[in-house]
Amino acid sequence: ETMKSVTGLADMEKRVADTLQVQRVIIVPENSDRYSWVKKELGRACVQQMKEMLVPDDIVAVAGGTTLADVAEMMTPDSNFNNVTFVPARGGLGEKVEIQANTISSTMATKANGKYRLLHVPDQLSKETRESLVLEPGIKELLRSIRHAKMVVHGVGAASTMAERRETKEETLDTLEQKQAVAEAFGYYFDKSGHIVHKEKTIGLQLDDLQENQTVVTVAGGASKGEAITAYMKYRPSDVLITDEGASQAILGLL
Ligand code: BG6
Repeated sequence: ETMKSVTGLADMEKRVADTLQVQRVIIVPENSDRYSWVKKELGRACVQQMKEMLVPDDIVAVAGGTTLADVAEMMTPDSNFNNVTFVPARGGLGEKVEIQANTISSTMATKANGKYRLLHVPDQLSKETRESLVLEPGIKELLRSIRHAKMVVHGVGAASTMAERRETKEETLDTLEQKQAVAEAFGYYFDKSGHIVHKEKTIGLQLDDLQENQTVVTVAGGASKGEAITAYMKYRPSDVLITDEGASQAILGLL
């Protein structure tokens, strides 16, 4: 029985990898929309990947969200995490402190016995302030670390869920509706063809700065995120996708 379901998931991983053109897909059983323990399993699988792919002295940039918070919760030390630095990928996006990238990178670092650096920038910034902040030596240095990150770990959300959860301006909500946004990642919103339709203004990682040699690990599960994951992967297929059966069924059009 157990063997059968493991084989079933391996087959599903291949089909999802083909559909999304993602090199490596890891699927954990069940649907995180239904059970919260499934998100912890996504976290555990992600920590395992990080242990396999990182080497001492690497820099890892992490995004926020409840899924990444579970990755942090499942983090344990490893010899490969020696002197690894965890940095937040982007500045504030209007989220609660517990699920902000800053909080998550410091939790991960503490649990991994690694190092961390924080990005102290308010969520709403005028263009002028942003432009002068990025010239501050401390921030400049951190932005350099983000650009040199060997790995970027992030979640994906359904556009409407994310826009509601954050303090999103009325004007932005209108744009998202008009342009039929379905996915969100790092504060960027995408339509179902994977085109960027809106970008929250904060400093830090800009998606078009991502280099070929940086490993992008996407962690997102739940049937409700199937459409969002599919759309986001059209923008740029990640190197690794860690997801669950629920999202996979939606991605494969089985629901
Ligand atoms: C945000 C990240 O904080 O969380 C996004 O910046 C991601 O990349 C979102 O889409 C996902 O949130 P959750 O709670 O569904 O994991």
